[in-house]
Amino acid sequence: MRFTTPLIAASLPFLVLSSPTRIHSNEKGRSIPISKRGSTFVDHGVVNITALRAHLAYVGAKYHIGLKNYERNTSPVHPLAWDRATHATKRDITTSALTDVRDSIWWGNISVGNPPVTFAIYFDTGSSDFFIPDVSCMNCGALRSARYSPSLSSTSSAVGKSFSLVYGDGSSVSGYQYIDAVTVAGLTAKRQTLGSATALSQNFQTGAMDGLMGLAWPASSEFGATPFFNTLMQQGTVSQGVFAFYLSESGSELRLGGTDESLYSTPLQWIPVTQRFYWRVGLDKVNVRGTEVVSGLSAIIDSGTTLIVGDPPTVREFYRHIPDSAIIKGDVNNEFFTYPCHYDPRISVTFNGASYPIGFNFGPVSNGSSQCLGGIVGLAGTPFWILGDIFMRSVYTAFNFDNASIGFARLKSEWDPKFS
Ligand SMILES: *[C@@H]1O[C@H](CO)[C@@H](O)[C@H](O)[C@H]1NC(C)=O
Ligand SMILES: *[C@@H]1O[C@H](CO)[C@@H](O)[C@H](O)[C@H]1NC(C)=O
Ligand SMILES: *[C@@H]1O[C@H](CO)[C@@H](O)[C@H](O)[C@H]1NC(C)=O
Ligand SMILES: *[C@@H]1O[C@H](CO)[C@@H](O)[C@H](O)[C@H]1NC(C)=O
Repeated sequence: MRFTTPLIAASLPFLVLSSPTRIHSNEKGRSIPISKRGSTFVDHGVVNITALRAHLAYVGAKYHIGLKNYERNTSPVHPLAWDRATHATKRDITTSALTDVRDSIWWGNISVGNPPVTFAIYFDTGSSDFFIPDVSCMNCGALRSARYSPSLSSTSSAVGKSFSLVYGDGSSVSGYQYIDAVTVAGLTAKRQTLGSATALSQNFQTGAMDGLMGLAWPASSEFGATPFFNTLMQQGTVSQGVFAFYLSESGSELRLGGTDESLYSTPLQWIPVTQRFYWRVGLDKVNVRGTEVVSGLSAIIDSGTTLIVGDPPTVREFYRHIPDSAIIKGDVNNEFFTYPCHYDPRISVTFNGASYPIGFNFGPVSNGSSQCLGGIVGLAGTPFWILGDIFMRSVYTAFNFDNASIGFARLKSEWDPKFS
């Protein structure tokens, strides 16, 4: 019997490694329902451009952080610097400091630690870090009360590093890094790095959600840590390095470890990612009524952005092809455009020869107006296009780490994407 102990010990690593595969043998992965807060951008059918401006400033600030990381993690300095946008965000955010700039992002419930504590978290394919509010945070918002208490979680350990996400406008999220178990859709990443936020700057304090989980590539992590989904992959908890979003009026979901074929009607069309940092792909064309009006673009697919954002010269060129469209005057860095509400420009985007129609009309710009806001906007300093929520609601989108590609398919249940 003296051999029993070493034999068991030797077999343990094998058991630990093989069990996730046995448990999660479903090739299609697992889903978590996701939801979005009601109308922040459209109030009683009228577009709130003030709120959209604040959101756009947040988007600019987020990419400012990301591109700084790019410059830090790669050399020589990335040609796509964001200096003009830094100025843009500074001016814009200060004029609307109490807007929760993230209100438009899809969220779901996840749990952290042992015993598990549930947090409501935004899912953001445009960044790679994960943070939740710390129990000691005095200004982390009051609408929800979930807090992370490292001392109450038996699986928590301190990394011994602080973190600080400082946006271009001076707003920030800061705190300390921990390692703990994080579960989404029943899939647990053991020893996941997370940020426990002890301080949020003012424009982050009004939100209804507890924190944010980034789903972009590890290279864009400000923490320098493995992001949640990549931890699942490393630990063999998912059999495919694929996650997917289905955004709809009801039944929206984030699927981890595969795709849900019951939700789309065409085969997934896979487009190679051009840079393993953001989810960035070549965008061949943007079309108005089936006719190409701009082409040869590069686009990031970002669940954390509401609009479609592009560089101002290209966006202006796009609107030249929409009759009676007009720029909204008064913005220094943002360029919003209106067009006649009765005209349907039937906007579509083309990737590798396949076109996907997208919702575009945000609604009248003022009560009773016959001019509507277009869903494509210009942001100064944007080195790429950002296809946000209004694009992702029009397609099924799968993000594939295994072979660095993004898959698009038409939705089975076509619906009229309304903006809220
Ligand atoms: C728009 O105008 C109508 C009629 O004048 C009014 O009843 C309604 O409350 C207005 N809506 C908003 C959002 O101001
Ligand atoms: C528009 O949004 C801003 C910022 O969220 C908010 O303060 C304002 O009350 C909104 N205006 C209307 C008319 O809803
Ligand atoms: C999150 O959990 C709360 C409380 O159980 C529930 O009301 C809510 O619908 C859940 N949200 C989502 C998006 O699943
Ligand atoms: C990526 O993998 C999918 C299946 O997961 C496959 O269908 C597709 O052809 C691959 N795409 C690329 C660009 O290699």
